[in-house]
Amino acid sequence: MATLTFTATGSQPERQLSQEEQIEQIIRNTESVSIGTKSSAVAGPDPEGTKNLPETTRKRFEKYGVDISKGYPTRPDKNSIPVYVDEAFAIRNEDYNFVDRGKFADPEKKALFGAAKEVKHLTKHIGTEIVGLQLQDLNDKQKDELALLIAERIVVFFRDQDLSPQKQLELGHYWGQVEVHAQTSQVPGLPGITVIWGDYMKKHGLPIRYKNAKIGTNQWHTDLVHEHQPAGITHLHNDAIPDVGGDTQWSSGYAAYDKLSPALQKFLDGKKAVYVSAHSYLDRNDPFSGPKKIERIHPLVRTHPVTGWKSLFINKPMTKRIVGLEPAESDLILDYLCKVFESNLDIQVRFNWKPSKPGLGTSALWDNRVSQHSSVWDHEGKEPRHGTRVTSLAEIPFFDPNSSSQREALGLSLD
Ligand SMILES: [Fe+2]
Repeated sequence: MATLTFTATGSQPERQLSQEEQIEQIIRNTESVSIGTKSSAVAGPDPEGTKNLPETTRKRFEKYGVDISKGYPTRPDKNSIPVYVDEAFAIRNEDYNFVDRGKFADPEKKALFGAAKEVKHLTKHIGTEIVGLQLQDLNDKQKDELALLIAERIVVFFRDQDLSPQKQLELGHYWGQVEVHAQTSQVPGLPGITVIWGDYMKKHGLPIRYKNAKIGTNQWHTDLVHEHQPAGITHLHNDAIPDVGGDTQWSSGYAAYDKLSPALQKFLDGKKAVYVSAHSYLDRNDPFSGPKKIERIHPLVRTHPVTGWKSLFINKPMTKRIVGLEPAESDLILDYLCKVFESNLDIQVRFNWKPSKPGLGTSALWDNRVSQHSSVWDHEGKEPRHGTRVTSLAEIPFFDPNSSSQREALGLSLD
């Protein structure tokens, strides 16, 4: 580094920059260098992206006055993206007073169910579809009941939705602090709405192909587990959907816990694990050691604050190790626990997003605290798939030793 001679300029007298300032300057000033990601997407609004925008998405944005004239999506400006992992760790690293709206709900959910045309459970243990209601019309009572329903059923679906991005964001604020991601693409003018657009990711570095389709969001995972207060209700509204395929699957953390033997449950209760971010940054003290993830410690079995049920809180790409175990022991146990989520079809739901009415979108709202999900890339990008996602952050994860499993609480067989 001694050969680098960047200096701070401007009205201040010139001074030699420190090594870390020099590296930061190189990263911020070099178009082709991205921070901890292989993506080559441009910073700021992307005019190229606008050209490829699915027609149904364009119409939704036009209808609701989202300005995409400068480009789409908007990638955070390089000057605002943290370079070093300690800066990224500091984002939202203080307690935020979260009150779960599900606590205020009528357990029978009369306001929500009474207004719906139909309430369909898609499987025994996970997934419910509400028919005949527009999310944009829900009153506060119904929103509280929906929060409880999501906590109980893990994922709730609404088809045929006429939903503005602004309303989607407003709903997210109702259920908690909306996460604004430091690195991901956003809807212009609406920070907090993350763009879920596989075709765009593929164009900008995601090496997805038929023989390697289980990468990115297509592998089983839980969103934003590295946060101080990780994701609670997450709302993905898909406004461009393939005619066939492009499904998403969810798996229940409550049920995964209930699949374990009492002896293994007892062993895991109270254990903690190290959780990592999906995106990477640099180590300030060792910047050439490669990309580094944000790391955070949370309980491996957590208690849901509203249902009171225990849930396994792990996922393969973002749970690094179980605290207190040898690495080989941790790897073995985590691998087994992930298999429980991934291989038990009776604790999963697979959902096809295709709405029945043209021009309308489909919403899925799930509880990230108690689930994993993965999408299915069988359409191979030949038909557009585009969505907007709003994530409401929840409580600091906790384990209550007096809490019960879901099956215990519901009086179901534990065998
Ligand atoms: Fe996800």
